[in-house]
Amino acid sequence: MKIVRTAGAIREEVRAERARGSSVGLVPTMGGLHEGHLSLVRRAREENDVVVVSIFVNPLQFGPGEDLDAYPRDEERDVLLLDGAGAGIVFVPPVEEVHPEDRATTVTVGGLSEVLEGAHRPGHFDGVCTVVAKLFNLVGPERAYFGQKDAQQAAVLKRMIEDLGFPLDLVVCPIVREPDGLALSSRNAYLSASERGQAKVLFRALQAGRPLAEAGDYVAAEKEMLRVLRTEEGVAPDYAAAVDADTFGPPLPGGRVLLAVAARVGPARLIDNIDPDMEETS
Ligand code: PAJ
Repeated sequence: MKIVRTAGAIREEVRAERARGSSVGLVPTMGGLHEGHLSLVRRAREENDVVVVSIFVNPLQFGPGEDLDAYPRDEERDVLLLDGAGAGIVFVPPVEEVHPEDRATTVTVGGLSEVLEGAHRPGHFDGVCTVVAKLFNLVGPERAYFGQKDAQQAAVLKRMIEDLGFPLDLVVCPIVREPDGLALSSRNAYLSASERGQAKVLFRALQAGRPLAEAGDYVAAEKEMLRVLRTEEGVAPDYAAAVDADTFGPPLPGGRVLLAVAARVGPARLIDNIDPDMEETS
């Protein structure tokens, strides 16, 4: 496995792979790796000759007062895990290799980026789209892998790919959970033992909303999810929503419905969702 740190080096490594006839899969991450990330790498390994994983804590997608400085960074550990999962090239750039100091370009996906996560984290998806567009251009993969854990992020990026004509397929992989239902997240590392116990309520809330959503009563599903979230002291809900899985607007007749929740648990802001049509693993 190779580790590269500059835009020039990643372009060169990918060019060399292409010269050997390899197909390339890209897995963008911010590090703090866990089984969720590794499931993406393994899937990419199955479907491509070489897998590029980026580890980059993208400052553009963190708002003022968010956890940019606290975000877990342990390159040595991440690199070992990636080697075990079959990554071929790890791209770990410093900020200036990705975002020029005088960067004047921002990629915005309208509408979809403004609700739920977008409403609670202004500018977040602009930061995500801008860095992911840059990574697509540096690596030029056939396929790029994202997790259903960040369902809105995947939907926003799918829209960006369609609108701007990036020549690649976006592959969305199922959420990996702990046995008790908690979705794996780098931010779970912020939780104390008691907060870790409280955090299980996100999945419980989604499960409670599910039969109501399946019966078509989305208002009742949202109310029930919020009620369940509020049963746990120390958990402060941001939202509990039933939305159309593609537009993130109100559920559409015949469309796929996604249930999504976000809440603050101690120092961590956690998100989770269920898409009744997607399989999950734990
Ligand atoms: P990060 O939070 O590191 O996540 C990297 C990828 O792993 C994302 O596609 C995310 O959805 C996926 N992932 C995280 N937890 C998962 C889980 N429990 N099961 C399955 N997949 C999971 O998302 C980002 O980084 C950034 O926004 C990024 C796309 C890298 C742009 O900076």
